[in-house]
Amino acid sequence: MKNIAIIEKEPTVEEYIQLRNSIGWKILKRDKIKKGLDNSIYCVCAEDKGNIVGFGRIIGDGGTVFYIQDIMVNPSYQKQKIGTLIMEKIIDYINNNCTEGAIIGLIAISGLDKFYKKFGFSYNQNNRFYRYE
Ligand SMILES: CC(C)(COP(=O)(O)OP(=O)(O)OC[C@H]1O[C@@H](n2cnc3c(N)ncnc32)[C@H](O)[C@@H]1OP(=O)(O)O)[C@@H](O)C(=O)NCCC(=O)NCCS
Repeated sequence: MKNIAIIEKEPTVEEYIQLRNSIGWKILKRDKIKKGLDNSIYCVCAEDKGNIVGFGRIIGDGGTVFYIQDIMVNPSYQKQKIGTLIMEKIIDYINNNCTEGAIIGLIAISGLDKFYKKFGFSYNQNNRFYRYE
């Protein structure tokens, strides 16, 4: 990994779409993406020479509930610890802003146990309900 900058900032809608495209995630409506990014508590971008190559954000209430969302690294840049740097920045933010007893969660795709366990997360399948539109 060379010259990758980890920057606390909200990406543009175009940058966010570019990253989602790179990993094959569904593209959502632009105005809803903008609203979602604006309402995030915290956003972090990984950049290579000013181009976005990774992203992660926190959603929640900023005090007692924090959910980690949209951790993504462009496939050309994966397996170079960029995801780890993004997660470290996010965990730092949570540690500095949460209260004792706060809920800190994420929804992971299967197979990423190793990646998230390193940051103290454990998998618990019970009582999780989701509805996708
Ligand atoms: C998940 C993702 C963000 C990891 O980013 P990354 O920069 O490649 O991760 P890192 O290089 O920091 O890897 C850290 C560790 O996690 C493991 N890991 C990373 N991606 C993995 C994957 N897809 N499956 C299994 N383990 C993975 C690595 O083996 C590594 O372990 P090591 O330190 O023992 O070598 C990236 O693969 C990605 O964007 N995937 C597509 C989007 C996605 O699924 N996001 C997560 C949604 S829950």
